Amino acid sequence: MKVLIIGEGAREHALSEALANSSEGYRVFALSSYINPGIRDSVIRTGGEYILGNINSREEVRSAINKVNPDFGVVGPEDPLFHGAADEFRLNGIPVVGPGVKGAEIERSKVWMRHLMWKYKIDGRLRYRSFSSLEEASKFLMEYGGSVAVKPAEQVGGKGVKVVADIQAYLSKEKRRALSKSVDEIGSLVRNDIKIIIEERVDGPEYTLHVLTDGHTYLPLPLAQDYKHAYQDGIGPETGGMGSISGPKNLLPFITQEEYEKTLGIIQETAKAIESETGEKYRGFISGQMMLTDLWGPTVIEFYSRLGDPETSAIIPRVTSDFGHILQLAAEEKLSKAKLEVRDEPSIVRAVAPLGYPLRRDLASGKILELDLNALREKGCKVYFGSVAYEGGRLITKGSRSLEVVALGNFDEISRTIDQCINMISANTELVYRTDIGRRLSEQIEKAEIVRYSYVNRAKNSSLGSSADWSPNGGLW
Ligand code: GLY
Repeated sequence: MKVLIIGEGAREHALSEALANSSEGYRVFALSSYINPGIRDSVIRTGGEYILGNINSREEVRSAINKVNPDFGVVGPEDPLFHGAADEFRLNGIPVVGPGVKGAEIERSKVWMRHLMWKYKIDGRLRYRSFSSLEEASKFLMEYGGSVAVKPAEQVGGKGVKVVADIQAYLSKEKRRALSKSVDEIGSLVRNDIKIIIEERVDGPEYTLHVLTDGHTYLPLPLAQDYKHAYQDGIGPETGGMGSISGPKNLLPFITQEEYEKTLGIIQETAKAIESETGEKYRGFISGQMMLTDLWGPTVIEFYSRLGDPETSAIIPRVTSDFGHILQLAAEEKLSKAKLEVRDEPSIVRAVAPLGYPLRRDLASGKILELDLNALREKGCKVYFGSVAYEGGRLITKGSRSLEVVALGNFDEISRTIDQCINMISANTELVYRTDIGRRLSEQIEKAEIVRYSYVNRAKNSSLGSSADWSPNGGLW
């Protein structure tokens, strides 16, 4: 059977490898904008083909489908989903893992997501208000004294991070004049009239639950936690993720089984609400990027319409069942036949990027990486290739997180193992990574215990989700 995977990052490397390793004997074909060395390996050893093209162009996805004529497809990143890559497969009668444009709206538009959660009264929802201009948002913030989070109303790719920083700077009065250029930029990035969403601010440990669904069955993966900030101890700009952890078992050290099940319920209800709202079954991954808060316990920060990256690199190596075959079952709406087995032992992933990432991607591009995969494997590490291209036999960085280094075992031990593995990687530039990922977990356990005490008490008083600060009028006030 032939499978066509769309995407080019570490998540797609992990997915393509799961497909290539499947006992079903798939031939792996890929459409990417550059040659990812890991995906290339899956393609070569299964006798597939690597197609270079624009993954965000529906026409190029269609042309890759016509060329390969796959038995099923897997769409990895969000942007191709927003542009209709999964719809393109289905229009051609080919089963695929990934929601259509309508379903992917749950990730693309934060306003739609929040509206849906309020309309269907799904637990874990935050109060919000949306604005069509920075001026309006600014006026509201000046009048309102409570604690809020300001975000772009839509998913705007890597630029979102900068936009948030710009909005925050803009909203501090003295910087407004200097930032008028940024205001124009926000306007051009966000497609609709609603540009900004302001949500009530919550605090607590974050975690992600990825759920695979074919519209009938919901298969939850083990929890993962993403470390978003660029620098050690969670400071610096937000990135796509500088590392992640998963486990032990299906949980994380600071999330209980009950919280895991509650989170799964929220995600299932959301997928069903999407179906009621759009008239289309949600098929693919739907992932709750959650926070354990004193307001609700499990609380939705955002949804992904796909697997998170680098969360995928922490999860897939822990799966002992045939994950490639599970993807086929999901695409073909036979997910009820799937059985997911996972190792008990946890994993840690650390992303490695060239100096310059995330603020000066120009400096982080075009650098040469050198690593010996066998030596790293012997040391106990697996490597997924991310923003790095195979060019002329060399590994050339593309400006973002180049590698994701993974190890499985006891958290303390594997932290040390990954330190040693990263020291075995060389480049013609300095490499940046966080060494605190998977360390000091007791701090997160303590934080979770504090919020758990509060939300359990709220539950006893039937006051989950209620807030004195905010009007209870359907999320808008
Ligand atoms: N790790 C966050 C994301 O995948 O968007």
